[in-house]
Amino acid sequence: MTVVAYTYSLETFFDDCRASLLADNGPDGQAAVRRHLLQLLRHPKLIYNFLGPDPTPGRSLLHQEPATGMHVFVHVYDSAGLSKPHDHGPCWIVYGNLTGHTDMIDYRRRDDGSQAGYADLEATRSYRVKAGEAELFPVGAIHETAHPEGPSILIRVISGDMDKVWRHTFNPAKQTVTDRPPRPERD
Ligand SMILES: [Fe+2]
Repeated sequence: MTVVAYTYSLETFFDDCRASLLADNGPDGQAAVRRHLLQLLRHPKLIYNFLGPDPTPGRSLLHQEPATGMHVFVHVYDSAGLSKPHDHGPCWIVYGNLTGHTDMIDYRRRDDGSQAGYADLEATRSYRVKAGEAELFPVGAIHETAHPEGPSILIRVISGDMDKVWRHTFNPAKQTVTDRPPRPERD
């Protein structure tokens, strides 16, 4: 009997994501991508090999998937940072921590969005994404993120090219929402 060793690779992760999204790019496929990212996080050497021996802080494109539009970024942080409450435009996104952790607050919008510049947000969940964990944020999700002083490594899987879309930034205390032009982002 021949035993074939199972070797997990970045290509396996990309292939799994592609297959799941081509089968269903709705909630089930997105949940599958989160599971695939959890599997990738169990193989940190793959990310370290990609980053090289001396990872520099910043954002690196790990993969762009032509068949689905999926983008995968690796973020290396060496200092603390936080984002204002925001959405992700027309994209869904999965955040996973390879090292370190990310503190998240999820928000629900209480108003109907009909009044320009006004948004009434309610915080619904406050939690920590620890190393080896991943969270899915569907289209329309609003959250804020904070990471502590580094080093920490975060992986973001995004349904499309979020650098090219308009998004929103929220101020819950002032009950405002502002348009956010397309630009390279890390949140
Ligand atoms: Fe975000």
